[in-house]
Amino acid sequence: MSQSFARHRRLRKTPAIRGMVRETQLHKNDFIQPVFVTYGTDVKLEISSMPGVFNFSLDRLSEEIDEIVSLGIPSVMVFGVPEAEAKDSVGTGAYSDQGIVQQAIRMIKQNYPELVVIADTCLCEFTDHGHCGVVHTHEHDGHIHADVDNDESLVLLAQTAVSQAQAGADIIAPSNMMDGFVQVIREALDEAGFQDIPIMSYAVKYASAFYGPFREAAQSAPQFGDRKSYQMDPANVREALREAESDVQQGADMLMVKPALAYMDVLRVVRDHFDLPLVAYNVSGEYAMVKAAAQQGWINERGIVTEMMLGLKRAGADMIITYFSKDVVRWLREEW
Ligand code: PBG
Ligand code: ZN
Repeated sequence: MSQSFARHRRLRKTPAIRGMVRETQLHKNDFIQPVFVTYGTDVKLEISSMPGVFNFSLDRLSEEIDEIVSLGIPSVMVFGVPEAEAKDSVGTGAYSDQGIVQQAIRMIKQNYPELVVIADTCLCEFTDHGHCGVVHTHEHDGHIHADVDNDESLVLLAQTAVSQAQAGADIIAPSNMMDGFVQVIREALDEAGFQDIPIMSYAVKYASAFYGPFREAAQSAPQFGDRKSYQMDPANVREALREAESDVQQGADMLMVKPALAYMDVLRVVRDHFDLPLVAYNVSGEYAMVKAAAQQGWINERGIVTEMMLGLKRAGADMIITYFSKDVVRWLREEW
């Protein structure tokens, strides 16, 4: 006797059929691998809260880049970790021609010209106070108040972007969350002759505890206060549309939502409102949680990470910046 209910299981019968009806695919071109570059020589230092992620000195960086390139990952995002003595109140190391990021970009582009090098444009890794811009402090009622000066910071961020482009960066990715950063950086890049360098805007970046391990890695935790006056309130989603809208108007070429997993609704809404390529940043805390549970033997890391990546793409991401990029691309080469 034939039943009238739907037989969904017909399309799940074999791996081949499941593959044919699969709506979302992961591809190596979707992945961007972050790399951390530091001072000194002969350094390959594991970041304690990010097992499997290392800080490399310039002379050993090619060990990491070789692996990324041989896996076929098209792109890296470069973060610099300068020595503490090199930091100052205005983040000079961020826009110095001899800055750690500029040196790393030059080295990578010289040896791997095809690899797409993305530069994170911010000051926090280079300021002694750890904020993403220039800080003014004033006393009020016996308390010290600190403000990050928006427009003063923009000048230095524009300089940072130009120096990264001069070093050979293929894409500028400003993460500082000052108002107007896309416009100011676009104008500065154009004036310096870099009309063809795209801007991947960290348009929708929340003030998040998920950045904790990164701040350990980059030694960029704010020395006082927090980032809530410039990064977004995790409670807001309509505000994400305003942030994205202004960056589109100012000339952003790609938009990012960060963090990723707790903000999949934001990815979806940004995807539905804008037609620019959309990037999800699966951040350090998201990586650390999975790694910690996997090391305990509590979860199946490969299964969990694959589901997370599919989820981000399903939510609307075209590209994913993740510390799992190498692992995912390695898994993609194997049978599931
Ligand atoms: C710099 C920057 C941060 C991250 C990317 N760029 C740190 C922050 O804003 O505090 C975080 C990345 C991660 O946690 O993986 N502003
Ligand atoms: Zn910053």
